[in-house]
Amino acid sequence: MPLTEHRTTLTQFLIEERRRYPDASGDFNSLILNVALACKSISRAVAFGELGGVLGNASGASGADTSVNVQGETQKKLDIMSNEAFLHVTEWGGQLAGMASEEMELPYQIPSQFPKGKYLLVFDPLDGSSNIDVNVSVGSIFSVLRAADGLESVSESDFLQPGTQQVAAGYAIYGPSTMLMLTVGTGVNGFTLDPNLGEFMLTHSDLKIPPDTNEFAINASNSRFWEEPIKRYVDECVAGKSGSRGKDFNMRWIASMVAEAHRILMRGGVFMYPRDSKDPSKCGRLRLLYEANPIGFLMEQAGGRASTGRQPIMAVQPTSLHQRIGLIFGSRNEVERIEAYHNTPRKEDLPSPLFTERSLFRVSA
Ligand code: AHG
Ligand code: MN
Ligand code: MN
Repeated sequence: MPLTEHRTTLTQFLIEERRRYPDASGDFNSLILNVALACKSISRAVAFGELGGVLGNASGASGADTSVNVQGETQKKLDIMSNEAFLHVTEWGGQLAGMASEEMELPYQIPSQFPKGKYLLVFDPLDGSSNIDVNVSVGSIFSVLRAADGLESVSESDFLQPGTQQVAAGYAIYGPSTMLMLTVGTGVNGFTLDPNLGEFMLTHSDLKIPPDTNEFAINASNSRFWEEPIKRYVDECVAGKSGSRGKDFNMRWIASMVAEAHRILMRGGVFMYPRDSKDPSKCGRLRLLYEANPIGFLMEQAGGRASTGRQPIMAVQPTSLHQRIGLIFGSRNEVERIEAYHNTPRKEDLPSPLFTERSLFRVSA
């Protein structure tokens, strides 16, 4: 009787993928394995919870009660610890020219003692961190881009690449089990962490999102700030069998985008955090480079769709590192329906003066 059922490890999966490219150096595989190691260390910290002293807010510089990141959000201890895990597990390997993260205002330079490489790593070290203290699933999101040749240091402009340029993207979810979901542009594969061996094992091959669904996710407390196409879509879902859709819908909201994305990869659904008029200084809640683009890449690779509501999310040319954007993703037919509501609105859905060309909210993205 074998000690373990043979399963493909993440390492074996990456090596077998690489064999299809005889000229590949192995740098990419080393990078992904280091990212996986960072995720494993975060998973352990999350699992210990209060016992590990990792819950609660981080204290700020010079004795301030709390620490606030460039987004103006209070940082949790685990936001900072997870950020450090990503930096220190990946910076030494010679695969990266630089990194950028939700928790750092400026791009991170590879320390001078380490060689520079051909990739850029962009990440949200802990997504859904408001859920950490209440023991609800959180995750980490990452995206790999190519760096220009011979970069000795990185600046913001090096990272401003549309999502279509991503080499790979994925997330880890720290739930009842820890999983790593990965795309290198040839579909989406899911790996479950074997807690005894500390290895990610391939458990979900070539995932496909059902094109239709009766489940939607949106923070309904923002409904008064939504634009008409979103109001219309949600009203129709809520009307259920008695409305124009002729079927009942379920609603979910976890407030960890990673957990919503995971549910959608497993059984379909649609997620919306649309552009709204809540805060005129922000064009949405989620960040383009390290939340929307990697999740968008996974969705599209699983046969789903990811959009601003007006155009594919991965077609958007980024203008700044921490840019926010409206994001809608999931089952293809539902996302296309929402896009149609935006792009061919009914007369009564035309934008209010708040959203005209000359107003605070630009109508383009
Ligand atoms: P983060 O913890 O990285 O700041 O991201 C949280 C995001 C996302 O995960 C989630 O969908 C959304 O914020 C939750 O927003 P609400 O607080 O409006 O529910
Ligand atoms: Mn996040
Ligand atoms: Mn985060």
